[in-house]
Parts: sequence; structure tokens; C-alpha cells
Amino acid sequence: MTSWKAFYERTEERAPSPLLSHAMGYVKNLRPLQAVDLGCGVGNEAWQLIQAGWQVLAIDKEPEAIARTVRKCSMDDARKLHVKIADFEYLAELPPSNLIHAGLALPFCRPARFDHLWSQVRQALLPGGVFVGHFFGSRHSWARQENMSFHSVQDVQRLACGLEMLLLRETETPMVIDSESVNWHRIDVIVRKLDQAMDVQAV
Ligand SMILES: C[S@@+](CC[C@H](N)C(=O)[O-])C[C@H]1O[C@@H](n2cnc3c(N)ncnc32)[C@H](O)[C@@H]1O
Repeated sequence: MTSWKAFYERTEERAPSPLLSHAMGYVKNLRPLQAVDLGCGVGNEAWQLIQAGWQVLAIDKEPEAIARTVRKCSMDDARKLHVKIADFEYLAELPPSNLIHAGLALPFCRPARFDHLWSQVRQALLPGGVFVGHFFGSRHSWARQENMSFHSVQDVQRLACGLEMLLLRETETPMVIDSESVNWHRIDVIVRKLDQAMDVQAV
């Protein structure tokens, strides 16, 4: 995808994410309320987290996404928002966090960089903290795109090795996106870092 502008226009007014709300239920009693939103787009989920009292580091490589995210947050919210224009394929370090969200974002990581990105997510999660987000399944219509990452349910289970799987939901929905018919094969995931997890990387 060369330009995200049309996607940002379409999603600017989107309702709060039920998947994220569900994940927030698992971590509401943890402290610190520190979250990361990877590939934040226009900032809907960063805003949703801030409304629930979280401090959020919102990351996107598109300056327009970050500008829209900042604009979405009022002066009051802004104290809870930190932003970074960055390529998540080359993240050096994420803040220790109790919630990491990546909505429709991880599939846009190139396969060669995916393990690095996922290891950054695992490392940054505090014990008890959760990752919530989407993977694209291997029967997704875009699965031949070499610069994107697609996963089977078994791949996702391997990535979650050593983490507690709280939700794994696979859906396949026919959709039309920009006049293109698409088999939208998505895997929604919520995983929790165990308190005394041996953070064994999947091989
Ligand atoms: C499909 S949009 C999803 C945005 C938002 N999370 C949502 O659910 O609406 C994917 C976002 O990931 C960002 N993105 C894609 N590749 C990225 C990368 N390598 N590093 C950082 N952000 C990236 C894009 O700029 C875009 O804003």
C-alpha cells in the first residue's frame, strides 16, 4: 500500500475497538498503566486507551498518522500521549508495558523483520501484561504480497509459545476494498505474559 490517506479518511471516526476493550479487561488492575500502540493509524485505539487512564506510546511510520493521532487528543489527553514516527521493523526498545496493541498493523511488517518485531513485543511486556492485535491469515487475498506477513493459526500458536493464549479467533469474510474483492482472513489474538514466564522464543 503506497498511501494510507484513504484508509485514514475511512477510519477517522471509527467506534472503539471491542477487541481492545476485551483485552483491557484483563489488565485493568495492573500498574503501571503503560501501553504501546504499534501502527496507530489515526489514533482511535490510542485515544480509547487514554480515556481508560492509560499512558500511551503511539508509533507509526507515517507522519500523517501521528499528526492525526495528536489532533484526536485534547489538551488533557495529550499529557498521556507520547508519539514516535518510527519504522516498527527496526525498533530498538519499547517501554516496559502492561498492554501492547497492534490493530491491522503487524501484517505490514516484512517477513524478514517479523521475528525482530515480535521479540520486541515479547520483551516489552511486563509479567501479566497482554498483547492484543490482528494477524492476517495465509488464505488472505493479499497473501502473495512478499513485503507483508501472513500467518496460519499454527504459526500464531508458535509465536505465543510460553505466553498464555486468552483469545484466538479466526475469521474469513468476503469484503470489497477500494473496488477489489478480498477474502479478509484475519486472526484476532490476545496473549498474556505469564507472571513467572520462561520467555522461551518459538523456534
Ligand atoms: C491498516 S493501518 C491500521 C491503523 C490502526 N492501527 C487501525 O487499526 O486503524 C496500518 C498502520 O500501520 C502503519 N505501518 C505500516 N508499516 C509500518 C512500519 N513498518 N512501521 C510503523 N508503522 C507502520 C501504517 O502507516 C498504518 O498507519
